[in-house]
Amino acid sequence: MSPVDVVELLNQDLHLEWNAILIYQAHVAAISDEALNRGLAGILAVEERHAAELAQRIRDLGGEPQSMDQFTTASGRAIAATSRFARAAQMLQLDLDEEERATAAYRAHIATINDEETVAMLRRHLRDEEAHARWLAEQIAARR
Ligand SMILES: [Fe+2]
Ligand SMILES: [Fe+2]
Repeated sequence: MSPVDVVELLNQDLHLEWNAILIYQAHVAAISDEALNRGLAGILAVEERHAAELAQRIRDLGGEPQSMDQFTTASGRAIAATSRFARAAQMLQLDLDEEERATAAYRAHIATINDEETVAMLRRHLRDEEAHARWLAEQIAARR
């Protein structure tokens, strides 16, 4: 796989990270429960680190990382805009859906990309997303 193809896949991952950042920012602002808020803010900080690492790796490979402006999707904005009307459990479910999309993308790209340094980073990100999904599923279960 050429560096150009790797950059294309990493930009897809970066797109998902920008989406996650938008959604977590909206949910941290909308949720008043203190413990939940702290947990989500912690996840948001990890997603911001993921985005920064992906952008750096794309640059190292000679590519151009997509900016959040270019890559912010209509769905990300819509979710952020409607968050203040949603209940915490609904927001957590949206977060979990986003984590599952990121997890699936990282798994697929780990299986496809043959550049060792890139794959090591993607594996670290995948482990983080799996931990986020577990924590979110626990929070959702506790609110049923
Ligand atoms: Fe992430
Ligand atoms: Fe995550």
